Amino acid sequence: MKQFLSIMLLAVVLLAVSCGQSKELILGGVGPVTGEAATFGDSTKKGFLLAVEEWNAKGGVLGKTIKTSFADDKGDPAEGATVYTKLIQQDKVVAIIGTVMSKVTLAGAPIAQAAKIPMISPTSTNEKVTLVGDYIFRACFIDPFQGTVGAKFAFEDLKAKKAAAIFDLGNDYTKGLSESFKKAFEALGGTVVAFEGHPSGATDFKAQLTKILEGKPEVLYISDYYNDVALIAKQARELGYKGPLLGGDGWDSPDLVKLGGEAVENGFFTNHYAPDATTPEVLTFVKNYKAKNNATPDALAALAYDATYLMLTAIKNAKSTDGAKIRDALAAIDLVCVSGRVKFDANRNPIKSAAIIEIKGGKQVYRTTVNP
Ligand code: PHE
Repeated sequence: MKQFLSIMLLAVVLLAVSCGQSKELILGGVGPVTGEAATFGDSTKKGFLLAVEEWNAKGGVLGKTIKTSFADDKGDPAEGATVYTKLIQQDKVVAIIGTVMSKVTLAGAPIAQAAKIPMISPTSTNEKVTLVGDYIFRACFIDPFQGTVGAKFAFEDLKAKKAAAIFDLGNDYTKGLSESFKKAFEALGGTVVAFEGHPSGATDFKAQLTKILEGKPEVLYISDYYNDVALIAKQARELGYKGPLLGGDGWDSPDLVKLGGEAVENGFFTNHYAPDATTPEVLTFVKNYKAKNNATPDALAALAYDATYLMLTAIKNAKSTDGAKIRDALAAIDLVCVSGRVKFDANRNPIKSAAIIEIKGGKQVYRTTVNP
């Protein structure tokens, strides 16, 4: 009898626990919605919300509705740390999609790692990001690959033998990317005639550019974000440089041609995806994104969408919202996404191809795809 009673009691407790189980879960998102590169955050948020909306329309995940909490990191590492802590401690998110800029992700990732909250950065390409720990993943390729693709394009397609690079001294992404470009360009047999850092927040680059132009480079590598790229391009043209400009994913913004105008023509950059690709995933995504936001999605939107799909698929496969179980499911994932097929390597980086985009007539034109 006693045994029967305790079994009954256990059943009642279990029932109470399962009834108390919430019918929703909260997914966190982070991006720079304001600050030096606000289009990055805007696109990231839109890609994230579209993915969640699609999942909720199909019944959510684990039978729960997906709620979202999206925080603005303002492109600032200190603010990034603050919002990661808020999402985890206050909002109790089960996982985080974020953030965009490597320098900010490097401030947020240790907080997610310590709390055992799995996160995927959609677009942080600096190599150090996922090395923070085993809960930290990314949906994009890394800068050593991106720099190598740029160097090969400069050497083989643009036929440049002499290159110069300019980068932001206070930004892990832009500095690391220029270093990767330099290493790869020299390995191909090219010469880097000038390698010039500028302080963060600078608006006058004439001193660095004058030095650069003395070396007569045949290509100028600018590994900055779009607003600085536009300024640097304008000043390089003013100083008489007519050759090609080359850079990385930080160029991807509808504002690049608005700010840079003529100066960014004959410009090329490596990117994560091209909206004019014709895979079924890209076609569906572009159509749905346009219908909702009345704009063509850039790579930031595509990767935030992909990162959200990856995380929700991992939660579904884990059959749990437990951080360690989601992490294990992520590590084992194999999913065809908008930006390509994603499987993670031992450092939680996907192996993916890069697109080369040309700025022509004020538009971004797809040139070619380069595989790893
Ligand atoms: N790759 C950049 C970084 O790591 C962020 C970025 C990605 C910017 C894609 C624009 C487009 O800081």
